[in-house]
Amino acid sequence: MSDIVRGVKDLIKMHGKPVREVYLDSENSGLILPEALKEMINCYEAVGFGHPSITHKVGWESYEKLHVSTKIIADFIGASIDEIAHFHSGTEANNVAILGVAKANRNGRKKIVVSSIEHLSVIFPAEELQKHGYSLVKVPVDSEGFVDVDVLSDVIDDDTLLVSIAAVNHEIGTVQDIKGLVEVVKDKSSEVIFHTDAADALGKVEFDVGKLGVDLATFSSHKVYGPKGAGALYIREGVKVEPIIFGQLSTQRLWPGIENVPAIAGFAKALEVMRNNFDEYTSKMRFLRDKLIDGILESIDDVILNGPRGDRRAPDNVNVSFLYCEGEAITVELSTRGIYVSSGSACTSRILEPSHVLLAIGRKYEEAHGSILMKVTPMHNADDIEYALVQLREAISRIRSISPIKRGV
Ligand SMILES: Cc1ncc(COP(=O)(O)O)c(C=O)c1O
Repeated sequence: MSDIVRGVKDLIKMHGKPVREVYLDSENSGLILPEALKEMINCYEAVGFGHPSITHKVGWESYEKLHVSTKIIADFIGASIDEIAHFHSGTEANNVAILGVAKANRNGRKKIVVSSIEHLSVIFPAEELQKHGYSLVKVPVDSEGFVDVDVLSDVIDDDTLLVSIAAVNHEIGTVQDIKGLVEVVKDKSSEVIFHTDAADALGKVEFDVGKLGVDLATFSSHKVYGPKGAGALYIREGVKVEPIIFGQLSTQRLWPGIENVPAIAGFAKALEVMRNNFDEYTSKMRFLRDKLIDGILESIDDVILNGPRGDRRAPDNVNVSFLYCEGEAITVELSTRGIYVSSGSACTSRILEPSHVLLAIGRKYEEAHGSILMKVTPMHNADDIEYALVQLREAISRIRSISPIKRGV
């Protein structure tokens, strides 16, 4: 057994059985809707288990399941079925969007433009392209995470190949005006390809590819309460994207491995549930989000809310910085109390770097280090939030009482 596994086992044992558990970390690994889980299990037990490219009954059943599920995903975003490419995660879809567009680049354009607060699965492939002769511009955002439109407009020129700006920021919940940003970009140069990472927008805010005018859009199943293991890329008809992964035959031009039909079917089921309950679920999340934010701001001193409020913030997102506290210390203390949250973003929490998103909106290092990210879901209720608030207050008070980082020292 490795030291890490031994260490983790000890940590879990140390926890004992909390009186109650509230999972608020759907940023990093989403809670699954019961209907989506049932659909996925049904695929393994009945229809949807086979390889959809193989010519026997089990394969044909899977092919049909894949087709029906893809149609549900396409309908949800106002696309046609041929405009959906399946992947195993949002990370893969983002990588293919950026590297695949560059690979298909036939007009010699060499500039990539992203916002400074993109998910690392957008920033890293864009930085990778810099090694291959591309220039990369990171457009700044204001103190709430909204893209600086003047800078965006200034940097777009006839050398710009691709712009990638997330519809909703994963850490601070900023809901960008994607339609307006597309217009700014296309006015400057109509051939620029506009990609939006919509992993945190789908099912939370209205999202219709036609109305927004985007060319490419990324989705991730677990971010919309489906199972892990499914992601999708909307590719507007006519937009050229080349494969970056090669292997066996499948129904997918851009993903040569076996399609994860059970996960895709679960993803589609989650979208069906979200579509049928959109108003109820988004208002519920908004209510729980505001209850949590207001409860924290009203009862704990020295707290900063990160990101905007109201409809300009995603209905599920709560991100606060507790001064004089370390984010990691808060997650561990809360974990022993049965409350599961993340410090900053998952991508950065393992390497203990402050979040690039929080730094980009002007937070100081120590403010970024004391940040906690929580996501409410339609599966939570007011009691969960009350309980989390009690535990949060006690946890922060305890950490501050023993913390070496003291006020005014
Ligand atoms: C905005 C955004 N894009 C992409 C991803 C990556 O998606 P996945 O976890 O499916 O790889 C995430 C995941 O948290 C995300 O929040």
